[in-house]
Amino acid sequence: ATPYAYFGAHQAGITTPVQDHLHFASFDMMARTGRDDLVSLLQDWSYAASRMTQGLDVSATGAVGGSPEAPPDDTGEAQGLAASGLTITFGFGPTLFQTADGEDRYGLAARRPPALERLPAFLGDDLDPGASGGDLCIQACADDPQVAVHAIRNLSRIAFGRSRLRWSQLGFGRTSRTTAAQATPRNLFGFKDGTANILASDTAALDDHVWVAGSDEPAWLAGGSYLVARKIAMLIETWDRVRLAEQDRIIGRDKGEGAPLSGGDEFTEPDFSATDAAGSPAIDPASHVRLAHPDGNGGIRILRRGYNYVDGNTDLGRLDAGLFFLSYQRAPEQFVTLQRALSTDLMAEYIRHIGSGIWAIPPGAEPGSYVGAPLF
Ligand code: HEM
Repeated sequence: ATPYAYFGAHQAGITTPVQDHLHFASFDMMARTGRDDLVSLLQDWSYAASRMTQGLDVSATGAVGGSPEAPPDDTGEAQGLAASGLTITFGFGPTLFQTADGEDRYGLAARRPPALERLPAFLGDDLDPGASGGDLCIQACADDPQVAVHAIRNLSRIAFGRSRLRWSQLGFGRTSRTTAAQATPRNLFGFKDGTANILASDTAALDDHVWVAGSDEPAWLAGGSYLVARKIAMLIETWDRVRLAEQDRIIGRDKGEGAPLSGGDEFTEPDFSATDAAGSPAIDPASHVRLAHPDGNGGIRILRRGYNYVDGNTDLGRLDAGLFFLSYQRAPEQFVTLQRALSTDLMAEYIRHIGSGIWAIPPGAEPGSYVGAPLF
């Protein structure tokens, strides 16, 4: 398979056909770093990313080509592995522009996108600060988990002294699709996830709902997007005791085919006015699909790109599992509106939002330049 280009109008890893594995990492800048440190970090990260995404070591001397008397530039565990569809996507959190106490560490406060603010608290949030926020983020996706981990590991190493890992998350089994050629995968509730997503081929929908336009504020973000990450624990043992018909009702689609309960097949549009034999709505008004659908939300759509996760188990012998939800949107308001609409979701009883973050995703780097250059 041909590796994905690192340079381009948009960063890779958004409309790219969703890969099988994720390593997501959030970083904080270190104390006493200045604007030059931030710029040099983004330059070094871009250079390394432009190489790793092509299946190369982080530098020309790489894992074994340097001096035997020095630690190698590249950690080496991706030697012999192909690029594996690796994409590396960088983002800037609200605190990069201005800390919570108003400090403007890098002279960027005036450049902050006005909409880039910490997400508001939502009903039912149970957020762990250790899985939330961060000055910078990196989403590494690949079809080989070792390739994704190698990318985050080496980018963390390159950041040494300037920025350090705040939290990170491994994900598997994509829970979304971004091309019509991809079969819809399933989440840990066993349901198809990603049926009604925005696809890479739908450029009109991408322009309307995903890419920040030249006419939006601020100009430096044009061609970029906003990324929301939510670590959502799924109470799967509880879910697994729910009757099949009830599971279908909660989602609004059937578990086998993923068809809307109003009838048809997976790709039939849901008909929210349809009724069943008893005269009740075929799709429950409090079902997940009903509440998340654009019809009830002023036409709002988002591009979902999440992954399943299992972080071992709890002391009670339950899987510590869920969905690492990732969505790209032209404005944070799109996510906020949907998440508020979902406050009465029948599914809410079976999930807990335990981590959260938002980042502005700059446009793609131009060849010879680095990611985020228009900001400086
Ligand atoms: C649709 C599961 C969280 C937004 C769906 C579907 C499933 C699903 C099974 C139907 C198939 C599809 O169209 O993809 C889940 C699970 C979640 C979760 C298990 C949490 C663990 C969220 C969150 C949001 C969201 C937090 C946004 C705030 C949507 C949207 C759709 C959707 C926009 C498409 C609705 C449509 O247009 O028909 N989800 N979801 N979901 N979900 Fe979620």
